[in-house]
Amino acid sequence: MIPLKASPELVPVGGADTLPRHVAIIMDGNGRWAKARRLPRVAGHRRGVEAVRRIVRKAGEIGLEVLTLYAFSSENWRRPMEEVSDLMGLLRHFIRADLNEIAGAGVRIRVIGDYRAFQDDLVKLIDDAIARTAANTGMTLVIALNYGSHNEIARATRALAERARAGEIDPASITAEAITGELDTADIPPVDLLIRTSGERRLSNFLLWQAAYAELLFTDTLWPDFGEAELVEALDDFSRRERRFGGL
Ligand code: FPP
Repeated sequence: MIPLKASPELVPVGGADTLPRHVAIIMDGNGRWAKARRLPRVAGHRRGVEAVRRIVRKAGEIGLEVLTLYAFSSENWRRPMEEVSDLMGLLRHFIRADLNEIAGAGVRIRVIGDYRAFQDDLVKLIDDAIARTAANTGMTLVIALNYGSHNEIARATRALAERARAGEIDPASITAEAITGELDTADIPPVDLLIRTSGERRLSNFLLWQAAYAELLFTDTLWPDFGEAELVEALDDFSRRERRFGGL
């Protein structure tokens, strides 16, 4: 039998007893956290930002290579305008208030998703944060903004098709590796551990390609209640899993 061509580049390295290189989190449950306290939804999002601070700090201390946070999905535009505007305001405030600490800790900020659709001043803040931290060598903090996997894969495919049409590449060279290299996450390792808070068990169009071999962890904890202990527990759970990447 002719063996199929293996694609070792697509298979994340690391074993069951190691720290994940890349942890991605769907931060869910801010609204329910607020509702349970009869508070407006924005209060939940504010507490959600505090959880972001805690987790970014702790992940850096632990020595994770990449932490990706789903802050605003391309579907979140469907929320009431006031909530969208609250989320944008919180993001603006977070960058202004926390960039010094984040940059000082050696963290490199990257953004995935079509964030250029945001208001001009916010786009500039984001671009400045990326530029200011570009040479840092510590943890990479990837913030997903106006992000959706289908859109990301479509954009990547279109870019490759355009190049093929222009005669720059052979269509036969459009392999899985070529697509990986064209995604917003180009040069970021694949997701090892994907966490979703608040009891929902869905991927919601998040890193579908990059999480092909990820371990999934769903916790009932609402995002504003997710703290250092919950992160350590998740890493501990990951370390006990046996990853086979399609092998035996
Ligand atoms: C999900 O909770 C959370 C979001 C849609 C936004 C996450 C955003 C933040 C934590 C704040 C901004 C982020 C940064 C990086 C500064 P939900 O509103 O869907 O909760 P629910 O399902 O209980 O209603």
